[in-house]
Amino acid sequence: MMQEKFNSKIAIYPGSFDPITNGHVDIIKRGSRIFDEIIVLVAQNPSKSSLFSVDERCQFIREIFQGYEGIRVDCHEGLLIDYFKNSGASTILRGMRALSDFEYEFQMALMNRRQTKNIETVFLMSGYRWFYTSSKLIKEVASLGGSVRGLVPENVHNKLMEKFNIKNNRK
Ligand code: PNS
Repeated sequence: MMQEKFNSKIAIYPGSFDPITNGHVDIIKRGSRIFDEIIVLVAQNPSKSSLFSVDERCQFIREIFQGYEGIRVDCHEGLLIDYFKNSGASTILRGMRALSDFEYEFQMALMNRRQTKNIETVFLMSGYRWFYTSSKLIKEVASLGGSVRGLVPENVHNKLMEKFNIKNNRK
C-alpha cells in the first residue's frame, strides 16, 4: 500500500535560541540544503527563563541570515503544533548533540506526533565542533567573564559582552 507523501518541504526549526549559537547556525545551514524553506521559530520553553527578549533573539537570527534564501525567522507563544498546523510545514527540525539530548528530544517528538498525525521530527547530528556548545553554558561562562568567542556569531558575542558589561577585547 502506498503511504501518503508529504508535499511540503518546509521545516520548522524551533528553539529557545537564548541566544543562538554557532551550533544552531550550523544546523540551519545544513538543514537548508535538505529543505526548500526553514522557518527558524523562536518559541517559548516554559521551563527556562531567558536572558534576551524574544525580539532580541529574533533580531540576532535575522541579522545572521540576512540575504539567505529559504530561511525565515518567526516567533510564537504557545504550543508548537498550533503554529505548525498553520505554517504549511511538514517537518520539525532539531539538532542532536550528545546522548543526553536524546530522551528529551524523543519525548518532545512523540508528544508532538501524539497531537497531530501529519508531523515528523527530523534530527541532524550536531557538528563535532559544536558538540559541547549550549546556550546555557555560553551564558554562564560569559556572565562570569570567560571567553565565548567563536562559539556564538559576532552580533551575539557583542551583545553578551554588553549585557554582562565586559570589555569587548576579550579573546
Ligand atoms: O531550545 P529548546 O529550549 O530546547 O527548545 C524547546 C522548544 C522551545 C522547542 C519547546 O519547549 C517547545 O516546543 N515549546 C513550545 C511549547 C510546546 O509546544 N511545548 C510542548 C512540547 S512537546
